[in-house]
Amino acid sequence: EFGPRRHQDRAQETAEEIESQQKNAAGEWEFKNVPDSDSSLPANVKWAEEIAAKMKDSKLGVETVNASKVSSEAELQEVLARAEEGGKKWAALGATERGEILHHAGVIMSQRRADLIEVMGSEAGKALDQGDVEVSEAVDYAHYYAESAKTMEKVAGAKFTPAQITVVTPPWNFPVAIPGGSTIAGLAAGSPVILKPATPARRCGALLAECLWEAGVPREVLQLVTLANHDLGKTLMTDPRVERVILTGSIETAQMFRSWRPDLGLLAETSGKNAIIVTPSADLDLAVKDVVSSAFGHAGQKCSAASLVILVGTVGVSKRFHHQLIDAVKSLHVGYPWDLGIQMGPVVEQPGEKLLRGLTQLEPDQTWAIKPRKLDDSGRLWSPGVRAGVEPGSEYHLVEYFGPILGVMRCDTLEEAVEIQNQVEYGLTGGIHSLNPREIQYWLDHVEVGNAYINRGITGAIVRRQPFGGWKRSVVGAGSKAGGPNYLYALGEWSPDDAGL
Ligand code: ALA
Repeated sequence: EFGPRRHQDRAQETAEEIESQQKNAAGEWEFKNVPDSDSSLPANVKWAEEIAAKMKDSKLGVETVNASKVSSEAELQEVLARAEEGGKKWAALGATERGEILHHAGVIMSQRRADLIEVMGSEAGKALDQGDVEVSEAVDYAHYYAESAKTMEKVAGAKFTPAQITVVTPPWNFPVAIPGGSTIAGLAAGSPVILKPATPARRCGALLAECLWEAGVPREVLQLVTLANHDLGKTLMTDPRVERVILTGSIETAQMFRSWRPDLGLLAETSGKNAIIVTPSADLDLAVKDVVSSAFGHAGQKCSAASLVILVGTVGVSKRFHHQLIDAVKSLHVGYPWDLGIQMGPVVEQPGEKLLRGLTQLEPDQTWAIKPRKLDDSGRLWSPGVRAGVEPGSEYHLVEYFGPILGVMRCDTLEEAVEIQNQVEYGLTGGIHSLNPREIQYWLDHVEVGNAYINRGITGAIVRRQPFGGWKRSVVGAGSKAGGPNYLYALGEWSPDDAGL
């Protein structure tokens, strides 16, 4: 079984074809990762050109969004009461019926792939190929969690009680896959969801919610809201009916939620400062390719991005890796998402103080192997930067900047490299490039990251294949991994002992 055999002319795909690819010969749903668009097919090039043209027309303006703007305490209480009511009916449906609706949502998102890619590009600056992969991830979550819910019902039965209300506060950097995965997980577990999209990605959140509503999720079961002020956020998080909050964002936000309510049922995936180690036994050509895509995909604005490469022994001494890396980074074509030739897009908004420091200032001992340049007056388009001579314990080693910058570090041994990697307080993703099984085993035994990747890039976790989640300060609250078999259990109360297991 090599995955769905679909003719991939995206413009010609029908709902029936999409649906049948997710089912087995007996016509039952059977999870398969949905394939990304094959951009080598001329028909798909035309399809992509049409998306890009629309993206360009709508540019970066945020249009009115189909969300309830909550401006007062009374309005917030209405939202909560609606969720409470809707939740009762939703939980009573049972996993199979809810799953049917969520599978249908997956099919609708697949059908609306072009629209989702367009809005991610125009609103959040996501390059078309990155947007395409992101739609696949969101679709995978729908089909995967729909099936997970059925399995959970069989295992836990009535012993699992879904959260009375789940609140989802996603980030802007994966504006479809993360709100999509989080919302669908809450719904699949049987909980009503209040989704508050990130401000720079509200249209993305609205289109996602539209897909779910169209699939049959009742409006009171999924509510899309924007909150007029901070106090309303606090009131929402401290309402006892809100039993789970899925946050993907900064550690500061997670800590703020916790300070508002110490017993909050929080599933927070926060920051990362991720490194790839390259040892002398590595396939250096492959290492360069994976370091570059992990560091500069979506302009480095992924919590999973590589912002450090640690060169061991001769890799750091000889100039070969260095020169190849510099050539590869310099050759990246930077532009806006409606330019189909780009390999790196803009940052989401004008850099704030921290990112600007990362893009412009060096610490002692550091040099620019490639200095980032501001490419236009918007302040959003920067060429990628590489800083050499990053020392252990320096600010650049330890702080997450969330932008198109890579720091190069050197050390003598693999042991030192792992220490440097683990010195970071976060532990989200990490990688090693090595062809020596002993080195790989040593690394696996010692590295402190949630997602450890060997001889590949460190971004782009795939649902079911690489359940995604952090370790150390990259996770606050329940540490279940998204897109993995245990995730739904964290979205309610379940005592395995009571279930007789
Ligand atoms: N799940 C996203 C990735 O793996 C963050 O890149």
